[in-house]
Amino acid sequence: MAKTFYIETFGCQMNVHDSEKVAGKLLSSGYRQVETADEADLVLYNTCSIREKAAQKVFTRLNEYKRARGAGKLFGVIGCVAQQEGEKIFEAAPHVSLVAGSASYSRFSDLLVQLESGNRRVTGLSLDTDATFETDFTHRDNPFRAYITIIEGCDKHCAYCVVPFTRGRERSRTSQNVLEEARKLADAGYSEIQLLGQNVNSYRDPSPAAVSFANLLGKVAEIPGIRRVRFTTSHPRDFTRDIVHAIESHPALCNQVHLPVQSGSTEVLRRMRRDYTREEYLERIRWMRESKRPISISTDIIVGFPGETEHDFEQTMDLLFEVGYHSIFSFQYSPRPNTESLAFEDTIPKEEKGRRLRILQERQRSMQIERNQRLVGTEQEVLIEGRNNREEDGRRQWKGRTVQNMVLNFTVPDELACGVAAGQYMHVRVTSAGPNSLVGVATRGDEACVSWPPSMMRPAPENVFHVLS
Ligand code: 5AD
Ligand code: SF4
Repeated sequence: MAKTFYIETFGCQMNVHDSEKVAGKLLSSGYRQVETADEADLVLYNTCSIREKAAQKVFTRLNEYKRARGAGKLFGVIGCVAQQEGEKIFEAAPHVSLVAGSASYSRFSDLLVQLESGNRRVTGLSLDTDATFETDFTHRDNPFRAYITIIEGCDKHCAYCVVPFTRGRERSRTSQNVLEEARKLADAGYSEIQLLGQNVNSYRDPSPAAVSFANLLGKVAEIPGIRRVRFTTSHPRDFTRDIVHAIESHPALCNQVHLPVQSGSTEVLRRMRRDYTREEYLERIRWMRESKRPISISTDIIVGFPGETEHDFEQTMDLLFEVGYHSIFSFQYSPRPNTESLAFEDTIPKEEKGRRLRILQERQRSMQIERNQRLVGTEQEVLIEGRNNREEDGRRQWKGRTVQNMVLNFTVPDELACGVAAGQYMHVRVTSAGPNSLVGVATRGDEACVSWPPSMMRPAPENVFHVLS
């Protein structure tokens, strides 16, 4: 009987996609994916170490599970905590037999062979990679929206960030290779592509074609069958005007940009080593505001960075008004191993960090309510993600996402209900709005919609995700 595996994922979309790659390797090595750790012979945790809390979760999870029902199973810790803690994990959690960082997934099959031959301390921790972007074995969890990594690693040196230590140096994939994968995905029925990278817009095509990031976006958006292209995460320093032009010229390129600011204070940005000032960041926002297509903007913010004064914080609060973000992901500063800011005195008490975060989130929340209210009465095209458990007017809701990446929960009148399914597009009139999502009623189906073959409607057991941003 085939061996079974269960994989649980913490962290960013890069990690979610890495889990798809690892799952693909396991499947091609004869393993079968199961939906609970209980059923699995091999339990994998794909981990995140961006903040201390995220990293600790791994050990809590490992110990809880091992104590409860772990007898006879093999455990592996992969991803950023694995890369960061390395072999120390074997000491902290002796029941773990595999520790591997993301740079070693291309040789995951070798690691499995070692595990199967009885080695109980298998490691894949080298950050030297030959930059192979293998895709043959990727086992995607979603039958209509696909991730494509275009750049791995990070060469920026933000003072607070572990990523350069957990994912290694920046390396881009050739444009031909990216486009080939995107075409294959379109042929297989995928209609949305999300291009991924820690700093996706730092992409540099290593091939002689030297396609720029903005041109690559345009080329992916032009592939027949691809209706939505998103990209994440952009670094403000490398955010160029031609990205805005690409969004204006390609309807399939979603008018939505995630542009982490981290702080509204130039002084804090300088100490964070972000390589831009508040004014330079706002200039990029202006480019987007001047665009012919309205672009929704989201961001990441850290409060309580060492030395952040009340005045610095006020500048971040003002920035919320100035930009009018569609959404924000905000965090209290967390000192991380190896980073430059670990040596800075963590001057701000935990309670004060908590207070700043609360105030920031409250302001953003009320701005989102106001902004979303303005969408009531508009018609939005959604890509249907699946069913909701909630009901509205006695009908079970569907969940969709708008072009600008908002969640829209909606009901479908009887006359439109025939054949509605995840992966299809529908037009929905917004009837009410909350801070984080919209509610609506479908008004019409989509002429260009294809019916999904039954095999595509049944994705294999899904990975469990805890996505960050
Ligand atoms: N503490 C708090 N938040 C952090 N982030 C990255 N490093 C830290 C840290 N040490 C946040 C940043 C980043 C997001 C993914 O996580 O806002 O953009
Ligand atoms: Fe977490 Fe960063 Fe690793 Fe993503 S790259 S999983 S955010 S530590």
